[in-house]
Amino acid sequence: MENQFSQYQDLEKIMITRDEIQTQVKEVAKRISADYQGKTPVVVCILKGAVMFFADLLRELDFPLVTDFMAISSYGSSTKSTGVVKLVKDLDRDICGRDVLVVEDIVDSGMTLSYIKKEFAQRGAASVRIATLLDKPARRRVELDVDYSCFVIPDAFVVGYGLDYDEKYRNLPDIGVLHPRIYTK
Ligand code: PRP
Repeated sequence: MENQFSQYQDLEKIMITRDEIQTQVKEVAKRISADYQGKTPVVVCILKGAVMFFADLLRELDFPLVTDFMAISSYGSSTKSTGVVKLVKDLDRDICGRDVLVVEDIVDSGMTLSYIKKEFAQRGAASVRIATLLDKPARRRVELDVDYSCFVIPDAFVVGYGLDYDEKYRNLPDIGVLHPRIYTK
């Protein structure tokens, strides 16, 4: 695979190129901007996977906003979601009465965002919407409304553009399917 990163050798194929990501992020940002006119939401980045998407999305959002960060863990180092959600880092601010836009890299089982939505509702958020880069509906275990999604993808193990396997591959600019030989060793 022709690329400047040696880590691309661990990919079976590239699923979504950096150009496709940027085009789609801009499209989704337009929809979000239209919906949030006149509001100043708290835009929450779910660490760590959403960092790249959050950084690119924010620069396309055309309304005043404040940012916050939350870390949730559910995967460990396996390739499948365990469904067990752990709050690793909480928000810095009180979201009571605020509109909240949660930014995620991927919705898989839906357990993480279902937990976050419930938690934010309990804290008195005025509204909670979800923007995700990737949506993998085939693996959903709980019902969840995803408000903004850039790409609906099949059930493959993807890495890059923030997404990891065992904390690696987050720095790849494209999204690729990890070769099974990497995680079946
Ligand atoms: C991933 C991803 C989502 C969650 C989605 O996080 O970033 O937060 O899993 O899975 P679910 O829909 O099955 O709950 P992970 O725990 O891998 O942490 P990371 O973002 O730090 O990589």
